[in-house]
Amino acid sequence: MSFFSRLSVNTKYNIISSLLLIALFIALAYSNYRREQSLILKGAVDNARTISRQIIETRDYLARVVTSEPERNENLIPQVAATRVAQQLTRGSSYYVRQVSLRYRNPDNRPDSFEAAQLTAFRDVKAVENWQVTEEKGKKSLRYLLPMVSDESCLTCHGSYDTAPGFIQRRFPRGHFSYGYRIGEVIGAVSVSVPMEGLYRQIGANLKRDILFDGCVLLIFVTISGWIIRRTILTPVKAVAASIAGVAHSGNFSERLEQRGEDEIGVLIGSFNELMEELDRKTVQRVESEGRYRNFIEIAQSPIITFMSDGKIVISNQKAEKLFGLTKQELLGQSIFDFMEKGELLQSAMIDYFSAGSSDLIGTTTRQKVRDVCGRLFDVEMVISVSQSEQSPMFTAILRAVK
Ligand code: HEC
Repeated sequence: MSFFSRLSVNTKYNIISSLLLIALFIALAYSNYRREQSLILKGAVDNARTISRQIIETRDYLARVVTSEPERNENLIPQVAATRVAQQLTRGSSYYVRQVSLRYRNPDNRPDSFEAAQLTAFRDVKAVENWQVTEEKGKKSLRYLLPMVSDESCLTCHGSYDTAPGFIQRRFPRGHFSYGYRIGEVIGAVSVSVPMEGLYRQIGANLKRDILFDGCVLLIFVTISGWIIRRTILTPVKAVAASIAGVAHSGNFSERLEQRGEDEIGVLIGSFNELMEELDRKTVQRVESEGRYRNFIEIAQSPIITFMSDGKIVISNQKAEKLFGLTKQELLGQSIFDFMEKGELLQSAMIDYFSAGSSDLIGTTTRQKVRDVCGRLFDVEMVISVSQSEQSPMFTAILRAVK
C-alpha cells in the first residue's frame, strides 16, 4: 500500500482505470467469444441439416423418376445416388457426409459407436434430428444425424425378400438383416460430421483482433482521460499547493491565482485567493498597529522595554535607551536580565508565570535596581504586563526612576 500511496494521482488513476478497463474488455471478449462460438455451432448445425435434407429431397425426386434403371446400374438406386451427389457437393469442405444403418447392406455404411447409439435412440424414441459436439483424441467435431424413416417406396427393396427386385435378391440373400422393415420404421440416418477446429480457428483470430482493438481503445482512453485530469485537476491543484508552499516560505500574501471556471477547482482557487486577501489585510493591520505602538511608546515619558520570554529585548523607546546609555541598535537583542541587579529573580518569576499562570513580579508595581552600560545602579519602579503575540507571549516593562 505504501508503494501505491507514493505514486502520483495521475499514475494511480491510470493504473486503476486501466485495470478496470482490462477487466471489462476481458469480460466483453469472453462473452463475445462464447457468442461467436454458439453462432458458429448453430451455423454448422444449420449446414448439416440442409445437407441432410437435400439428400432426402434428392432421393425422393429420384425415386419418383427412376424406375427400372437400378436393375442395370446400381448407382442409380435413389438412396445411393442422393448420397453420392451430397458427397460430391461437400468435397473440399470440412463437412463429411454418409448414410448409416444398424442393419446395413454396404459394410461402408456400418455406423461407428456414436452413430450406433443415436440410431438406437431414433429407433426407440421418434426424434426429428440429433446433434452433439463430440471430442475424440482431443479433436472436437460436430456430429449431426437425421433419421430416415421407411415409407411404401422403401419396402420394394427393404421389405420382404420375395418381393425385392432381382438385383437386390442376388446381392442380399434371403434372411439378410436389411430386409423386413415396416412402414414408419427408422431404416437408417444421414450422418454429417464437421471438425470444429477450423471453425474455432476463426473465432481465435477474431479474439486476437478484438484484443488488439481493445488495447488501442484502452491506450486512447487512458491517454485522453489522463490528459483531461492533469489539465483540469492536477495542474491547478499543484499550482495552489506551490503557492501555499511559497507563501509559507516568503510570508508574502500578495499572490493571487487565476480562477478559471466555477467548478470545484475554481471554488478552491477562489477560496485560496480569499484567504490570501484576508491574510494580506491582517498583515497590513498588524504592521500598522505595530507602527502605532512604536510611535506611542517613543513619545512616552517613561522608559519602556518589550522583551520575549527568554529576556531578549525586541522593542525599546528613547527614554529606555537613555537610561541604559545605549543606542537602539545596541540595546535590541540584548537580555533584560543583564540590566537588572537581580536579573535571576525576574527570570525565575517568568518561569513561575509559565508554570503557575501568575507571578508576584508580573502585573504589579515593584521596586528594582537597574544597571546602565557603565555598571551604575538606579532605583526604579517597574511594572510588567504580558501580551499574547501570535507565537509566544511578550512582556512589556514600564520603568520610573525613583529619586
Ligand atoms: C431400388 C431398391 C431400393 C429402394 C427403393 C430403397 N433402397 Fe435403400 N438401399 C438399397 C441398396 C441396394 C442399398 C445398399 C447401397 C450400397 O451398396 O451402398 C441401400 C442402402 C440404404 C441405406 C444405407 C445403409 C445400408 O444398408 O448400407 C439406407 C439408410 C437406406 N437404404 C434407406 C432407404 C430408405 C429410407 C428408402 C426409402 C425412402 C430406401 N432405402 C429405398 C436399395 C434400395
